[in-house]
Amino acid sequence: MLKKSFATVIGLAAAVSFLFSACDRKKLNIQSTTYVDDERDGAKIILGFSQIGTESSWRTENTRSVFEAAAEQGIQVLYDDAQQKQTNQLKAIRSFIVYRVDVIAFVPIVEDGWDNVLREAKEARIPVIVVDRKIKTQDESLYAGFIGEDGIEEGRKAARFLLQKYSDSTKKLNVLELRGTDYSSMAKERSAGFREVLLQDTRFCIVKSVSGDFLRSRGKEIISNIFAKEGSLSWENSSLDIIFSHNDAMSLGALDTLQLYGVNAGRDVTIVSIDGEKDAVAALREGKINCIVECNPRLGPELIKLVKTAANRNTIPRVTYVDGRVYSENDDFSLTQAVGF
Ligand code: AHR
Repeated sequence: MLKKSFATVIGLAAAVSFLFSACDRKKLNIQSTTYVDDERDGAKIILGFSQIGTESSWRTENTRSVFEAAAEQGIQVLYDDAQQKQTNQLKAIRSFIVYRVDVIAFVPIVEDGWDNVLREAKEARIPVIVVDRKIKTQDESLYAGFIGEDGIEEGRKAARFLLQKYSDSTKKLNVLELRGTDYSSMAKERSAGFREVLLQDTRFCIVKSVSGDFLRSRGKEIISNIFAKEGSLSWENSSLDIIFSHNDAMSLGALDTLQLYGVNAGRDVTIVSIDGEKDAVAALREGKINCIVECNPRLGPELIKLVKTAANRNTIPRVTYVDGRVYSENDDFSLTQAVGF
């Protein structure tokens, strides 16, 4: 492996916030790492990991899982938290290239705009693994593979729950959709899968769809704005029967406001969510959420297997999907199994 000078490492500090050392399992400030001796540990694989931020418990657990799996396998992680900005991710990836890490893994906040930086990684012969969200590219050879969830299937699962729940109903059913981050593959896929299944049944109508950026604060705000404008949980004189939220954080935010306005969540309005974080699972048990489509954030162990394969210059699968279950009010068994993170 190549040796880099400490000066180079310091030069990276602005863009790369932390170095995670497998030895002591702590997030370390990059200026006080094992790199101060001007040498790399010859045996260790170094992974550059660009995470998008800390917008949800899902995300925090996702990062933790990668750190833990890397530590278990003796892989060092150069870590950057992009704080929800693609420009920060581009800077971090370029820093990883300058540092000549063995493998780069990144969670693309949005789908587009990665080709140039990926071309630079390819020229530097550094394999790149796309994690959790997908990218759009003109050239599929720019990355080694993808690991994450199938957002289309998650959207379909949410819709299937509703078709089953309302199978005996004859009334028209109005849906409010709380979407994840605009231009992210995850928001697009969840919306697409949901529509594909739900809209085959003409009783359902998505009367309003708003981006809540996967944030609890936005879930809360969107419902508050609806009450402020309409005076009730409705949209343009149609009462809202169902809230489909692209993640638990937004569902929990929505619940905060619904409770404030005395709406009996889970009964007056059906809530279908995605993820499976602890607080949402608790709300499901209390009957305030009707269904959670599980999205497993613990991608670390599978990702690290791929990192080791790619670092050894072997091919990794083009797509590795991690599947999840559906937890719902219908199923006592699944509810006892649901743990949350
Ligand atoms: O991309 C995965 C999504 O991003 C999770 O469902 C959500 O909680 C996170 O912020």
